[in-house]
Amino acid sequence: PIIPVILSGGSGTRLWPLSREAYPKQFLPLVGSDTMLQATWKRVAPIADQAPIIVANQEHRFMAAEQLRECNAEPDAVILEPIGRNTAPAIAVAALHALTRHEDALLLVLPSDHVVRDDRAFHAAVKIAAQAAAQGKLVTFGIVPDAPETGYGYIKAQGQGEVRAVERFVEKPDLATATQYVASGEYFWNSGMFLFQASRYLAELRKFQPAIISASEAALSKAARDQDFIRLDAESFAQSPNDSIDYAVMEKTADAAVVPLDAGWSDVGSWSALWAVSDKDAAGNAHHGDVMEIDCRNTYAYGSRLIALVGLEDVVVVETDDALLVGHRDRVQDVKAIVGRIKREG
Ligand code: GDD
Ligand code: MG
Repeated sequence: PIIPVILSGGSGTRLWPLSREAYPKQFLPLVGSDTMLQATWKRVAPIADQAPIIVANQEHRFMAAEQLRECNAEPDAVILEPIGRNTAPAIAVAALHALTRHEDALLLVLPSDHVVRDDRAFHAAVKIAAQAAAQGKLVTFGIVPDAPETGYGYIKAQGQGEVRAVERFVEKPDLATATQYVASGEYFWNSGMFLFQASRYLAELRKFQPAIISASEAALSKAARDQDFIRLDAESFAQSPNDSIDYAVMEKTADAAVVPLDAGWSDVGSWSALWAVSDKDAAGNAHHGDVMEIDCRNTYAYGSRLIALVGLEDVVVVETDDALLVGHRDRVQDVKAIVGRIKREG
């Protein structure tokens, strides 16, 4: 059975000033009226054989629970991490928990902060992936790259089938390498979604990072449980190495496979990425909230007060209670530097 695991532990800073540590992007309604967590839930519910498992930071438990309640979502469990140890241990605790439900559980691992425009194409890809996963493959979903982004994993696949063996998985290559990969036409981006048997994932992780397994087992066996919350034992979980599934398992395993995915996927890593996946008017303007505009092209605006844009091109405006961002659409990656300065200078 397919059991979704929704990872909700990240703290995005590239969508400052909206996304903050206390309020990361998975809890924001960035596209439409659902938050990204809610949209992820709704996207996966139709193909789940069992209610999803959520893995989140304990600081976000009320926000997560409240948002799930709003869409009548009843998770199998909300596993709460006392500290973030990255995705390899987060998925490990979910896998250990899932095995207590079904010994042949297939985990569909999903970040909670991605946009997928075409649910049907996504569901079809999962169906294809499920067959390979049932045979022991660790399946990734590959996106045809359109730029040498260095924030992604790169996958070199073999052959042309619906499911392809992975020849090589390289997490976050440098710019020169990424440029070469994209030019070769032989690589996919890793979408960050995975499908595999819980038991296969744990077996591979045990091979490459056994300390993650022992820490995760201890954190779960000593966990405090109330209703559907599972609070991992802090001392045990802190013993886990900090590592992502990509470095810990996907780069090393010999059993990776990739299913190409063409479903309007975006990890909305910046305001310009969000502009790109949003509905736009004929002049390319995408607006979220109360926005009035005269003679603008390719602008993006998000806010709760009335925002008026006049005669602008390629400008991003994001308004919150305590901060205002105005930037060029091609430069919004640099808000990271602003966040760094705010942290240093207060
Ligand atoms: N529960 C939990 N705990 N979730 C976490 C943690 C954690 O410690 N760390 C990250 N996450 C969640 C994030 O919220 C996000 O939804 C997902 O796991 C992936 O983490 P990111 O930190 O966003 O990873 P990334 O974007 O650098 O890289 C991954 O995604 C790319 C595609 O967006 C990798 O899988 C890349 O290979 C991939 O290309
Ligand atoms: Mg990400």
